[in-house]
Amino acid sequence: MTAAPAELARSRLAELLSAEAAARASEADAWRDGYLDLAPEGVESTGTTQSLMLTRAVPAIYERWWRPALGRAFKGLGGPGMAEELRIARLFLGLSGGERVLDLACGPGNFSRRFARITGQDGFVVGLDASPTMLAKGVAEARAEGLANIVFVRGDATALPLRDGSVDCVCCFAALHLFAEPFGALDEMRRVLGPGGRIALMTSIRRAVAPWPVSRLAQGVSGMRVFEPDEITDALADRGFVEVGKRVSGFVQFVGGRLPE
Ligand SMILES: C[S@@+](CC[C@H](N)C(=O)[O-])C[C@H]1O[C@@H](n2cnc3c(N)ncnc32)[C@H](O)[C@@H]1O
Repeated sequence: MTAAPAELARSRLAELLSAEAAARASEADAWRDGYLDLAPEGVESTGTTQSLMLTRAVPAIYERWWRPALGRAFKGLGGPGMAEELRIARLFLGLSGGERVLDLACGPGNFSRRFARITGQDGFVVGLDASPTMLAKGVAEARAEGLANIVFVRGDATALPLRDGSVDCVCCFAALHLFAEPFGALDEMRRVLGPGGRIALMTSIRRAVAPWPVSRLAQGVSGMRVFEPDEITDALADRGFVEVGKRVSGFVQFVGGRLPE
C-alpha cells in the first residue's frame, strides 16, 4: 500500500474538487495505493477493451508496448508517433507554466507526467481514470520521476468530481470511444473548464473503408464506439467551443478547441 501524496498536493487537489469529493478526500481510507479512490464501486465496463484496462498485465506494458503498437495500427503507418501525439496535445492545449490540467482517462499517466513537467511547480495535474491498476502504475511512475505537482484520482468520466470552471485544460486521449456516455463526458469536460479553457481529444472516426456490418461487429466486440466524421467537432461547437480544429490519421481524429474568455 503506497502512502497518500504529500499534504501540499492534497490541498491543491482539494481546491479543485467538488464539496462532496473534497470531504471524501479528507478521509484517510479514501487513499489507496497513492491515489484518491472516488469510485470504489467501480465503473461499468463497456466491453473487452475497457475490461483489459482493469487487468494487471496491460498497465505493466501499456506505455512502452501496448499504446505505441495499437496507436500505430489505428493511426496508420504514416500517422503521428507518441512524441508527435504529445506535440499535438500541447498545441491544442496551448499549455504553459502554472496551469491546472485534467488528464481524463489518463491510464498510467503517460501524458499526465509530461504535462506536469510543462506546467511546472506552479501548475497542477489531475490524472483521472477508472482503472485501479492503471492508477497504481501512474502513481509509481510519477513518484519515480519525483513529480510533486500531480495527483491521481479514480472516478468516472461521465460524473467528474471537480468543481465548475476549476481547470484550464482538459486532455482526453484514446478514451472517449470507450465511455458509456461520451457526450455526457463532453458535457462534464466543458463544465470543469474555466473561461478561455482548452480541450484536446484523440478518438475514433469513421472512414469509408470497412463495410458497415463489419465495423458494427468490431464495435460490438471491442466496446469501442466509432464516431461519425463531424460528430465530435460538432459536439464541441454545440458546447460553446471556438477555434475547433481537427486532424485525421487513419481511423483516429485529434480534435481541439477553446472556450471564449
Ligand atoms: C487506452 S487508455 C488511454 C490512456 C491515455 N490517455 C493514452 O492516451 O494513452 C483508456 C483509459 O480510459 C479509461 N476509462 C475507460 N472508461 C472510463 C470512464 N468511464 N471513466 C474514466 N476512465 C475510463 C481506462 O481505464 C483506460 O485507462
